[in-house]
Amino acid sequence: MAPISLSIRKATPNDLTPILTLVRSAYRGESSLRGWTSEATIVDDQRIDEKGLLAKINEPNGAVLVAYDNSENKPDDIVACCELLKQSDTLGYFGLFAVNPLRQAGGIGKFVLAAAEEYARSTWGLRELEMSVIWTRAELIAWYVRRGYTVTEKRKPFPYAELVGGKALRDDLYFVVLIKAL
Ligand SMILES: CC(C)(COP(=O)(O)OP(=O)(O)OC[C@H]1O[C@@H](n2cnc3c(N)ncnc32)[C@H](O)[C@@H]1OP(=O)(O)O)[C@@H](O)C(=O)NCCC(=O)NCCS
Repeated sequence: MAPISLSIRKATPNDLTPILTLVRSAYRGESSLRGWTSEATIVDDQRIDEKGLLAKINEPNGAVLVAYDNSENKPDDIVACCELLKQSDTLGYFGLFAVNPLRQAGGIGKFVLAAAEEYARSTWGLRELEMSVIWTRAELIAWYVRRGYTVTEKRKPFPYAELVGGKALRDDLYFVVLIKAL
């Protein structure tokens, strides 16, 4: 993979379609299996719809961040994204994390996670960031632990009834919550 020079910006409603495409390609279906970690074998839905994504982009207490290749000054050429939500004066939530499956395992994920942590610190003064990961995804949980996250005792139910245009492929899913002091 060619080296990439990245910048981060806050997404706007104009980014809706490329972010939707990116998220679905990274989490679901055959395209996601080109990356090193995906949910294709555990959930067969669309991950998020336009309405849900637009709500996250417009969330006053949150931000969807996108990373783009700035070597050719193409801010619309989105290679990765994530969501931040301010849950209290000190705690934030990190989610909707996706890197184009054709560009994974080259450091983009690490760059975006670090940029999101810095954004949460500098924009809202947050002290802790948490995230939810499906318990079966041991390789991904290990990746977050290497980035300084701790696996807590906290569990969250899997939203079986709210999946978008599809279904789960197992009935034993739930989330584990990871947290990091910023
Ligand atoms: C999770 C994700 C965002 C990481 O992005 P990325 O650009 O691939 O991450 P990086 O290149 O920064 O890091 C690659 C890491 O993967 C590890 N890795 C690569 N192939 C691997 C494999 N087959 N098994 C386990 N780890 C692997 C590398 O060792 C490296 O980790 P290290 O630097 O700690 O050793 C990306 O894989 C993705 O979009 N996945 C699908 C969506 C998803 O699962 N999102 C998270 C939901 S909580």
